[in-house]
Amino acid sequence: MTVTIKTPDEQDKMRIAGRLAADVLDMIGDYVKPGITTNEINDICHRYITEVQGATPAPLNYRGFPKSVCTSVNHVVCHGIPGDRKLKSGDAINIDVTVIKDGFHGDTSRMFFAGKPTIQAQRLAQVAYDGMWLGINELGPGTRLGDVGAAIQKHVEKNRCSVVREYCGHGIGRSFHEDPQVLHYGTRGTGLELKTGMALTVEPMVNAGKAAVRLLPDGWTVVTKDHSLSAQWEHTVLITDSGYEVLTLGAADRA
Ligand code: MF3
Ligand code: CO
Ligand code: CO
Repeated sequence: MTVTIKTPDEQDKMRIAGRLAADVLDMIGDYVKPGITTNEINDICHRYITEVQGATPAPLNYRGFPKSVCTSVNHVVCHGIPGDRKLKSGDAINIDVTVIKDGFHGDTSRMFFAGKPTIQAQRLAQVAYDGMWLGINELGPGTRLGDVGAAIQKHVEKNRCSVVREYCGHGIGRSFHEDPQVLHYGTRGTGLELKTGMALTVEPMVNAGKAAVRLLPDGWTVVTKDHSLSAQWEHTVLITDSGYEVLTLGAADRA
C-alpha cells in the first residue's frame, strides 16, 4: 500500500479540482425537480464540466462506467447510472461528481430532493451528513483511520441507521482511487496514521434499514438488499499541519 503525499504544487492542483467538482454540484441543484431525468442531469453536468470548466468527468469510461456522473435515487446506495427515469416529487437523489483538472481529481457528492422530501428521507440525509462531518472533524496529522470510521459508525448506529461496509472512501490525487481505503466504521486507535499532505475522501453510505447491499446485473448499481432508503455525502479533504482542509466546499461555505 502506497499513500501519496502531495507537494505544495500538487496541493494547489487538488484545490482547483476540488473547487470545480463542488461548482458542478452548486450548478446542478436548481435542475433537480420532478420530471427531470437522471440522463438530463448527467448531460447538463457533462457539458458544464467539459465546456465551461475545461475539465474531464472522471467516471466516464472509468472501468467501463458509461456516464459522466453517478445518480443514485432512493434505495440506490451508490454508482447509479443515469438513465431515462424521471424524478418524481419526494425522490431523494445523490449526485456524485468527480472532475479531473490538470491531472488531479476532485470528488464530491450531495443529496438533493425532487419536490418535497419525505420526513424519513430528510432525516436519513441529515444522519449521513452529520456522520460525514463527524468523520472529517477527526482528520489531522496523527489521526488513525479507525478514529474516522468509529466516529461515523457511532453516530449512524445511535440513530438506528446502518453503515454500508462494501464501499468506502479513498485516497485521491493523480488517480481517482488511491490508497488508503477509508472505512466508515471501525475501532479507535487502529489503522493507518495520517500525515500532512495526504488527500482522501470521506463518503459514508447510510441505510435506513439493514447494512446489506446488492449489486444489480448492470454491474454498477448498488441497492439496499432490504430496499430501504440510502443516503450519502462526500468531500475530498487534504491533511494539513493544523488539521485538515476540505477541498470540495460549495461556494456558500467557502471563506
Ligand atoms: N465517485 C465515486 C466515488 O466516490 C466513484 C464512482 S466510480 C464510477 O468514489 F465509475 F461509478 F463512476
Ligand atoms: Co469517492
Ligand atoms: Co464520488
